[in-house]
Amino acid sequence: MIDIHCHLLPDIDDGASSLDDSLQMARLAVEEGITHAVLTPHITPGRWENTSAIIAAATNAFRQALEEEGIPLQVDYAAEVRISDQIFSLLAADQIPFLGEWEGYRVMLLEFPHTHILPGTDKLVDWLIRQGIRPLIAHPERNRELMQKPDKLRPLLDKGCLAQLTGASITGRFGAEARTAAEYYIREDLITLIASDAHNTSTRPPAMAAARAAIASLVGEEAATRLAIDAPAQLVSNRFKAG
Ligand SMILES: [Fe+2]
Repeated sequence: MIDIHCHLLPDIDDGASSLDDSLQMARLAVEEGITHAVLTPHITPGRWENTSAIIAAATNAFRQALEEEGIPLQVDYAAEVRISDQIFSLLAADQIPFLGEWEGYRVMLLEFPHTHILPGTDKLVDWLIRQGIRPLIAHPERNRELMQKPDKLRPLLDKGCLAQLTGASITGRFGAEARTAAEYYIREDLITLIASDAHNTSTRPPAMAAARAAIASLVGEEAATRLAIDAPAQLVSNRFKAG
């Protein structure tokens, strides 16, 4: 499997807390059946001021450590970009790394606040689409406003947004409301793909297999394979060599 959203890089955000921690997460990912991971540290203005340059350097160092440890996990990088007005200047400075491509658009992993949908989000989405960028909305099922009114996601998808579901939501890690929203989105076929959003080895490990099985029992094996295997591979097909 390819995991397109995870926080394995050490000391760069609220993910792995040390290189040892990162390597242990990578070992767990491999045990899980994850062969490729796109590392997506937070870019959150005022909190985690990461840039393409910082994330690229950290990824290169981590890739070397993986090779030295003999851990067969291929890694590349993007970022989880918190919605803010700094997106404009970061894009102008070419400091937001993209996940991949989808139907001719570059794809940015976009994070909403956990509580609500910011006023003006629709305008930002329109602007991004005009720049040839499709936002991939990170875990909408964990946003409180969307948990209460999941159909508020639909207008954003209609504009061209994609949606990433976090595997642990559908297996219950984030509570009943997130699980209910996750199941709704899966049944309504509003999700583009799933990812682990792993942050550590214990409470938020790099897990995708159980989510894939849960989705299969909900809507069938074909849809589960599309969300866990085919769509992530399509998104990052320009990043990793075949295999
Ligand atoms: Fe994340």
